[in-house]
Amino acid sequence: MSLKYTLNSRFKTAMQALNIPSECTPLLNISGKPQFGDYQANGAMGAAKYLKTNPRDLAQKILDQVDLSGIAEKTEIAGPGFINITLKNDYIADCLKDCLDKPTVQSNIVVVDYSAPNLAKEMHVGHLRSTIIGDAIARTLEYQGHQVIRQNHMGDWGTQFGMLIAELELQLSQGEQAELALSDLEVFYQQSKKHFDADPDFADTARAYVVKLQSGDANCLKLWQQFIDVSVAHNSEIYKQLNVGLTAEHIKPESAYNDDLQMIVEDLIQKQLAIESDGAKVVFLNELADKNGDPSPMIVQKSGGGFLYATTDLAALKYRADTLNVDRVLYFIDARQSLHMKQVFATSRKANYVSDSVSLEHHAFGTMMGSDGKPFKTRTGGTVKLADLLVEAVERAEKLVREKNSDLNEEEITTIARKVGIGAVKYADLSKTRTNDYIFDWNSMLSFEGNTAPYLQYAYTRIYSIFRKADIQLEDFSAKLIIAQTQEKQLALKLLQFNEVINQVAIDCYPHSLCNYLYELSSLFMTFYEHCPILKSDIAPEIEQSRLQLCAYSASILDKGLDLLGIETMEKM
Ligand code: ARG
Repeated sequence: MSLKYTLNSRFKTAMQALNIPSECTPLLNISGKPQFGDYQANGAMGAAKYLKTNPRDLAQKILDQVDLSGIAEKTEIAGPGFINITLKNDYIADCLKDCLDKPTVQSNIVVVDYSAPNLAKEMHVGHLRSTIIGDAIARTLEYQGHQVIRQNHMGDWGTQFGMLIAELELQLSQGEQAELALSDLEVFYQQSKKHFDADPDFADTARAYVVKLQSGDANCLKLWQQFIDVSVAHNSEIYKQLNVGLTAEHIKPESAYNDDLQMIVEDLIQKQLAIESDGAKVVFLNELADKNGDPSPMIVQKSGGGFLYATTDLAALKYRADTLNVDRVLYFIDARQSLHMKQVFATSRKANYVSDSVSLEHHAFGTMMGSDGKPFKTRTGGTVKLADLLVEAVERAEKLVREKNSDLNEEEITTIARKVGIGAVKYADLSKTRTNDYIFDWNSMLSFEGNTAPYLQYAYTRIYSIFRKADIQLEDFSAKLIIAQTQEKQLALKLLQFNEVINQVAIDCYPHSLCNYLYELSSLFMTFYEHCPILKSDIAPEIEQSRLQLCAYSASILDKGLDLLGIETMEKM
């Protein structure tokens, strides 16, 4: 059981015995100033206000009541009624044995909707955030024991595909191979757009193909499938490079819901949620009314009969509730789609597609900016392909690795450069508060100092090298812990917070809290390592063993934490 949890329940019991109502919680927190203790219980002040009594007196009563035997070394009341708790070193050591145990949580079925690029074009930097934030959260929830269902809601349908398959047909008729024609999707898209704009016959064919495709024409479907296959293959390559756990089995694209769309619209009309407006079918939502009180419109079918992005999202949500039996649905989509998500959520609830017990959550994020403070672009103002960005990351990392360490062989350099370069790009994003925009900056993300992936990866290799020097296996290392020095204690207390942080991330889906935690942990490790020598002849064997154990725990938690973020570690760099 976690240390904080134990402390919390001891205080709750004491407060209950004093007839303090249960809405007054102990408010336990790690102490900001270690010289005053390790943990603080700040709940006495709130409870005293509630009971209209003196807070210091109440704090004293709580202290007299609470059973902290075997746990606390010392307690004291400070200021208006803070309770400072200094823990017993033996107790900390004892708890630490379980710091890598997973917390027990009630397992939920969680759909994580992330990445979801549109297949008409190649993945660009705009897809990075959804892909890596969503993946980190999926990993975290899985680690906690939830049943995670990854859903890659790829955009593989819509009017642009008429134009694209018309272009593909044209190029194939000129003897081109599909793979070759589509080797650069960006170029292919530009070519088809050029034909579409310049050649009225081509444009007519393209428009006719949209209709044919939607009515299931075999030739159009075949061309479309060829296009989709190549595009999906591009994306799979990116996921692999990014160490993102999305594979073919997670793809449930927009087209998968085609057959449900008519039924959804009819159902919404029948339930009087959608009405006809200028020939289109529209859901008007009063709960999302604008400043003037005008209800928010969501079109579910165009006047020409076509369905929309929103219709597909309603169908997807219904499927997730009915078929996947989901408890929680998490969407990792750009903040600009906030209104769309609100409309989809509100309509699904009103239409009873999802019950109130299902949690629907849009976890929005800001934009990746260039150093000029504008959305990140190439020097000529084009969109940056994700594939190119990742190549550059690895190249830059390789240069750094070569400068730093000359003992590595070529194979090692290649592997390390990949892990450092990709890790740096991912970490720079994950460590920023998700909802904010952030500035993409090669130099700061690849720095070996500060809150960066290379710094954490380096801290991990430092620990590894201690074991290498001692000629001991880090994995499965087990020794008795003796906590005596302040630096040992600070490190141990940090290690004990791991599961609390994981719980928090699983709830609010802000991966930067895990990043901050890992950074603080590494810094405390470095301080410990400076002050508490390990492999020195004048260090008693049991102290050496205990310190190695602290090292081993630190390495395991760093490794696990980075793994949950989708970032790889290495034994040397
Ligand atoms: N394909 C969409 C886009 O690129 C994102 C889809 C997100 N998921 C969803 N269920 N709407 O904007």
